[in-house]
Amino acid sequence: MGDSVSGKSRRAVCPGSFDPVTNGHLDIIGRAAELYDELVVAVFVNRSKSSMFSVDERREMLLEVTAQYGNVRIDVFSGLVVDYCRHNDIPVIIKGLRAVSDFDYELQMAQMNRGLAGIDTLFMPTNPEYSFLASSLVKEIANWGGDVSRLVPPLVNKRLADRAEKRTDQV
Ligand code: PNS
Repeated sequence: MGDSVSGKSRRAVCPGSFDPVTNGHLDIIGRAAELYDELVVAVFVNRSKSSMFSVDERREMLLEVTAQYGNVRIDVFSGLVVDYCRHNDIPVIIKGLRAVSDFDYELQMAQMNRGLAGIDTLFMPTNPEYSFLASSLVKEIANWGGDVSRLVPPLVNKRLADRAEKRTDQV
């Protein structure tokens, strides 16, 4: 792939919390990886939002579950996503849209990011199989011992089960 005329490679970023990565994220990552020479999956460090997994754990899980894609790189960032894009020479942000309800906020962010730094956002419709899927729901279900094995990669399922077990031990 790549742009044989300018010699530039095509790069994009998939930013998110990935707390933890789900099959819905993986669907978008896999499809975006086919469209770009390099896809950076960037874990946002949000100090004002409490997370279940540390940034290192989220990064590790992403590394393992995307190992099959030769052109996917995992990174961590804090601050504005557009600053991350500028510093890393990435012209486009890829976002998955599950339903119309995602669109309002995503459009607002996309327009803000375009206005701030001229960075465009491309929306990719989520596979309908995952349109209801959210990391927050996965965590809640797993915390109460529910089965999330069809919603997350096996490695993540194991990590969630370990957490739930530890939690039960403490009660
Ligand atoms: O997985 P999430 O939590 O829905 O991801 C949201 C994320 C990290 C993509 C979004 O909050 C973001 O881009 N944060 C970086 C900070 C930023 O640039 N904020 C201004 C957006 S207009």
